[in-house]
Amino acid sequence: MVRDSAVKPHERLATRLAPKMDAVNALIRQRMASRHAPRIPEVTAHLVEAGGKRLRPMLTLAAADLCGYGGEDDVKLAATVEFIHTATLLHDDVVDESAQRRGRPTANLLWDNKSSVLVGDYLFARAFQLMVEPGDLRVLDILSNAAATIAEGEVLQLTAAQDLSTTEEIYLQVVRGKTAALFSAATEVGGVIAGVPEAQIKALYDYGDALGIAFQMVDDLLDYWGGDATGKNIGDDFRERKLTLPLIKAVAKADATERAFWVRVIEKGKQGEGDLEEALRLLNAHGALEATRGEALDWAAKAKAALDVLPEHPVKDMLTDLADYVVARLT
Ligand code: IPE
Ligand code: IPE
Ligand code: MG
Ligand code: MG
Repeated sequence: MVRDSAVKPHERLATRLAPKMDAVNALIRQRMASRHAPRIPEVTAHLVEAGGKRLRPMLTLAAADLCGYGGEDDVKLAATVEFIHTATLLHDDVVDESAQRRGRPTANLLWDNKSSVLVGDYLFARAFQLMVEPGDLRVLDILSNAAATIAEGEVLQLTAAQDLSTTEEIYLQVVRGKTAALFSAATEVGGVIAGVPEAQIKALYDYGDALGIAFQMVDDLLDYWGGDATGKNIGDDFRERKLTLPLIKAVAKADATERAFWVRVIEKGKQGEGDLEEALRLLNAHGALEATRGEALDWAAKAKAALDVLPEHPVKDMLTDLADYVVARLT
């Protein structure tokens, strides 16, 4: 296979999966409408038309493709996964009081929190309608569990925020829940509908799980060193007093003066001019950003290793490259 290294892996996957992805996007458009409440299409169109990488639906299509699936249920399940994702983003931006998403003002800013919460609920409900349609109880089990696990992850994060004693173990639990659960469900259902052996389904699950963890670690790093390319604000996590991995690592190495700083800005929430810069200085001084990047690389390696048991296939190479790319987007 000739590889075009100038094209990003998710773009190569997108090209291969283009006809299916078009069907997914058409289905999303069709199902995000509502004849009864005009606010719903206003909000969903704002978010959906802003784009988004469509990474999770692509994972479902890719997994099904890799497993030789020949039916149409992959399109429905890919749309389901993107609906769950979009619903969680609407809710997440309310909880995080975020102002920017996909390079646009958030729905909570343009409309209000109430609209974001309720339209998010609507999208969840639409996701459940869609996931039932293939008539496969195992698929239903996987996706409904993922929806519950995401909510648990977000709530666990809520109670861990502002708490300097948050451990790396708790962080991992949060990330597995709020992010990796949907990645692993997305890849797993692709294998399930294709009816491949359990070992291969497990491999797809493990790939999604590790990729999701790496992805969120990178997202948490970008919150400190990202640029406009992320389409999100820098410093949101700091302002929200979230104990993400870089911060947990820096706090673990803090001396008495530094600890007093963390107690003030994270526990007490007394943040002022220059505090984000000081936090960044401490993160750098303790190598916390580099160490987090190292862990993201380890998880990307685990994702790639999980693919070993799967048969040789062009999509397998693309998924391998995707794992590299998830961490490479930092540079
Ligand atoms: C954002 O996910 C939420 C996280 C898990 C960090 P994406 O970065 O995949 O969001 P879009 O869909 O491309 O906007
Ligand atoms: C991701 O969490 C949202 C979910 C997975 C539900 P974050 O709050 O870290 O993501 P961004 O940075 O807002 O996209
Ligand atoms: Mg957020
Ligand atoms: Mg959040």
